[in-house]
Amino acid sequence: MVNRLRSLLFVITFITLLVGCSNSQKATSKKEETPSLKEVFKNDFLIGTALNTPQIEEKDAGAAVLVPQQFNAATPENIMKAQIIHPEWSRYDFDLADKMIDYGKKNNILINGHTLIWHSQLPRFMYGIKDADSVKQFFTDHIKTVAGRYSGKVFSWDVVNEALNEDGTMRKSIFLDKLGDDFVTEAFRLTQEASPNTELYYNDYNNEQPQKRAGCIRLVKKIQEAGVRIDGVGIQGHWHVGKVPFDDIEKSILEYSALGLKVMFTELDIEVLPRNFSGADINQRVASNPSLNPYVNGLPDSVQQQLAQDYENLFKLFLKHKDKISRVTFWGVNDGQSWLNGWPVRGRTNYPLLFDREYKPKPAFFKVIEAKKNFNPTEKKSF
Ligand code: XIL
Repeated sequence: MVNRLRSLLFVITFITLLVGCSNSQKATSKKEETPSLKEVFKNDFLIGTALNTPQIEEKDAGAAVLVPQQFNAATPENIMKAQIIHPEWSRYDFDLADKMIDYGKKNNILINGHTLIWHSQLPRFMYGIKDADSVKQFFTDHIKTVAGRYSGKVFSWDVVNEALNEDGTMRKSIFLDKLGDDFVTEAFRLTQEASPNTELYYNDYNNEQPQKRAGCIRLVKKIQEAGVRIDGVGIQGHWHVGKVPFDDIEKSILEYSALGLKVMFTELDIEVLPRNFSGADINQRVASNPSLNPYVNGLPDSVQQQLAQDYENLFKLFLKHKDKISRVTFWGVNDGQSWLNGWPVRGRTNYPLLFDREYKPKPAFFKVIEAKKNFNPTEKKSF
């Protein structure tokens, strides 16, 4: 009897252990199962993120784990801009840009250089320059030096950023003013010379909108007609929840790729906070006011769902045209680090990305993964 009881007890203990064991295995494998964006979309397009300084220097522990898991492309959020990489007339500072290259190499992440010629975030000395010869000299030296140094090290360059107005005309800038209309073509020509095997892109915001898109197409044609190489157009993709311009995005994908270009979404984020203008002109600012910062204590579920829905529809559209899209890059790793907490209104709490402030995937992340799971390539209108 005692023996029987003993063996029964033994069997029960064994079963309990077995169940416990398999449960804990489930728990670990469940943890490991958080899908990886770069894996899920590996046959479709690259998945990128912008990286800030602590992330490039691997001082951000959460990003150090998450970035290599999720992304196979990255763009430096600021450190390759002229202001940082070329702080004085005859001095360059390559320290952080070199670190970015090493980071990419170590983690199998392709680096998109951002950006050679842009009217914003210029070094201070440029604002004092008045004569055209000096602007020309800065322009030439800057491109030759920076593109030359990273030739064979970056995968691609945003050669020119934001040269257009909303109506498709050329934006007034120091480059247009002193070098004339051809400065964009000239920038591509110089970059090609300095870095012959690097992909070369034109990048802008709102260039999915009809008038600006038409201007962008004119600009691309002008470069092509001059016999200069341009490989792609970047649509930044700073959009607003509930107002993502799906039809214009689709038209842009088709029209840009008809020019023989790769199409990229280069700075994707979907803002959830109120704002009375669209676009991403970093010089346009709005005074802070509590009514413009309504979600300090968390995002209401309805907005969370709308955000997830917008991201899902966007990725359905991207998948539908995956043969024309080469990369989708988010402008930041997690919500807490997004530039939209500080622009156009300072000190807000924004929620525009797929990972929350603790690096946890948000409902929008899972909807993006679902878009791929449910993707049916034969379906015509898939959103
Ligand atoms: C932003 C950065 O995210 C901010 O940290 C910085 O203060 C301003 O610039 N379009 C671009 C990006 O091409 O370089 C901008 O990045 C956002 C708009």
